[in-house]
Amino acid sequence: MRCGARFDIAEPLFECPKCGDLLDARYDWSRAVLPKRLSDFEAKWAEQADPLAFSGVWRFHELLPFADRRHIITIGEGRTILQQADKVAPYVGVAPGRLFLQYEGLNPSGSFKDNGMTAAFTHARLVGATRAVCASTGNTSAAVALYAAADGRVPAAVLVGSGKIAYGKLAQALDFGARVVQVEGDFDVCMKRVKEVARELKIYLMNSLNPFRLEGQKTIMYRILEGLRWEVPDWLIVPGGNLGNSSAFGKAFKELHEIGLIPRMPRIAVINAAGADTLYRIVNQERIAWNGGRVDEDRVAAFYRRMDAENRRAKTLASAIEINRPVNLKKCLRAVEWTAGCVEKVTDQEILDAKAQVGAGGFGCEPASAASVAGARKLRAAGVIGQGDRVACVLTGHALKDPHATVAYHTLSDAQLAQEWGGYGVRRAVHGNHPVVVPDDLEKIVAAIQS
Ligand code: F0G
Repeated sequence: MRCGARFDIAEPLFECPKCGDLLDARYDWSRAVLPKRLSDFEAKWAEQADPLAFSGVWRFHELLPFADRRHIITIGEGRTILQQADKVAPYVGVAPGRLFLQYEGLNPSGSFKDNGMTAAFTHARLVGATRAVCASTGNTSAAVALYAAADGRVPAAVLVGSGKIAYGKLAQALDFGARVVQVEGDFDVCMKRVKEVARELKIYLMNSLNPFRLEGQKTIMYRILEGLRWEVPDWLIVPGGNLGNSSAFGKAFKELHEIGLIPRMPRIAVINAAGADTLYRIVNQERIAWNGGRVDEDRVAAFYRRMDAENRRAKTLASAIEINRPVNLKKCLRAVEWTAGCVEKVTDQEILDAKAQVGAGGFGCEPASAASVAGARKLRAAGVIGQGDRVACVLTGHALKDPHATVAYHTLSDAQLAQEWGGYGVRRAVHGNHPVVVPDDLEKIVAAIQS
């Protein structure tokens, strides 16, 4: 993105060999076979016996045309839904019928990552990769391990921060047979190391630095449009960690707009956890912007130097987004500029309360995912989002990824919560659903049900 060098898609690169900056996938749309209108994709609904039409990623193949059929590996990812969430709408503060939740927990590995991983493993096949590696707060490792197992040709190693990932995710990586390396450090440490590993061993990198992963993640936006009968929402709200999603979403809409398949852009709001708020600080305090491609990189570097000097580490119960050095920062700034978007941050208390509301609305999600709903509520309260705006929040991961967070929230007393999570600023389970403990006595059981 910095130096403008071009490379062939068959080169296994995750950074620019000339300047070290991010790589971006670009298409010559004039040579692509494109639908006349987005509703033309509905023809794929009738072809579900074809795995490529069944996949919620590859049924939009024309919009990510970097590989041909024979390289594509799909396990039925992206069969996710946009759900009108009238029970959660009052919590966010928008009118009935205006809040939608895009439930990416329905993916094979239980998070949005599968959208990207099907694309990255496809590219890995295309370049003839023989091994894959990633750093992860958990979901990436689960998805990499799953696709490596399904593919069978590209075994994977995953680097995770020791004690830093939720059990559901660790369980998946172990079960799917990946080499799990628990590094004594956090995600930011793992991310730095995994790049060194990928360079040294020439292993294919599966993190969202990989531009092809982001191509797959664009399709989440196509499915939101599909769910709205191809109408563009006013707001698209997404949690921000390593900033792959927000980058991919901005690109998805920009391309559709340029091709002429959507009439206008939605606004994207990226939500940081307050304890991992690099993007928030960069945008709202440092006022560093994409600026038409001229990001002030010296000031970004100075920001990170200060962060290191203060030894500021990311700290949030939303472990999936406990990240202080987001690798896709520049692409995310681009997405924010392209969509006249904004960045907000929410506390762990706000995240857990919003998560309970999402759960009560019938969609279990993990803490990081609920940042989108908590952020929407905050932006609505500030008047940034209007009451009548149509808002789509992405629920990035399934509730069962992190059962501890849910069970602790609903079972612990205020005093116990303060002890368990006081260091994260969580004091009360505002929407706690406490279980009732009764003896083996029919009368007491009946009384508990009736109370
Ligand atoms: N939500 C969930 C559930 C995630 O797992 C992640 C990222 C994010 C949101 C943030 O998305 O990085 O695109 O801004 N998890 C990565 C991982 C970092 O390793 O699983 P992002």
